[in-house]
Amino acid sequence: MVHATPFLLVLSLAIVAPVFSTRKCVLTGRWINDLGSNMTIMAVNEKGEFLGSYHTAVTASGNEIKVSPLQGSQHRTDKNSQATFGFTVNWSFSDSVTVFTGQCFVDEEGKEVLKTMWLLRSHVDSIKDDWKATMVGINIFTRLR
Ligand code: BTN
Repeated sequence: MVHATPFLLVLSLAIVAPVFSTRKCVLTGRWINDLGSNMTIMAVNEKGEFLGSYHTAVTASGNEIKVSPLQGSQHRTDKNSQATFGFTVNWSFSDSVTVFTGQCFVDEEGKEVLKTMWLLRSHVDSIKDDWKATMVGINIFTRLR
């Protein structure tokens, strides 16, 4: 009977641990990235599609920043709690478009994090300038509460 306590402790950890490790990462909500940009993702529908808005903290355009619409989709999540996704931001204050692709993770502390890469396509007046029209980078988003 003396040995029952550690046994029960190990047993309860074995039961509870998988529950934490399979915690689902949910895209819906408000997020902030490493540049200080904010975005809001609305409900994800049954096809994995979603809409939202993006408030960038920075711009390559020199124009006044305005909140811009985003639309995207995530991979089906029935068997996958850390879904891959992509979304496009059609900037309302410049002629540019950014596409983001990434994965929604639950980190070791149980916090959701979006690890993304992006391509920002700027408008150029001539095909000769095409070579300099695309930027690439990464952004890491954490949930805003
Ligand atoms: C523009 O400058 O024409 C539009 C704004 C682009 C903002 C970029 S998109 C990738 C990077 N991540 C952000 O949150 N903002 C910048």
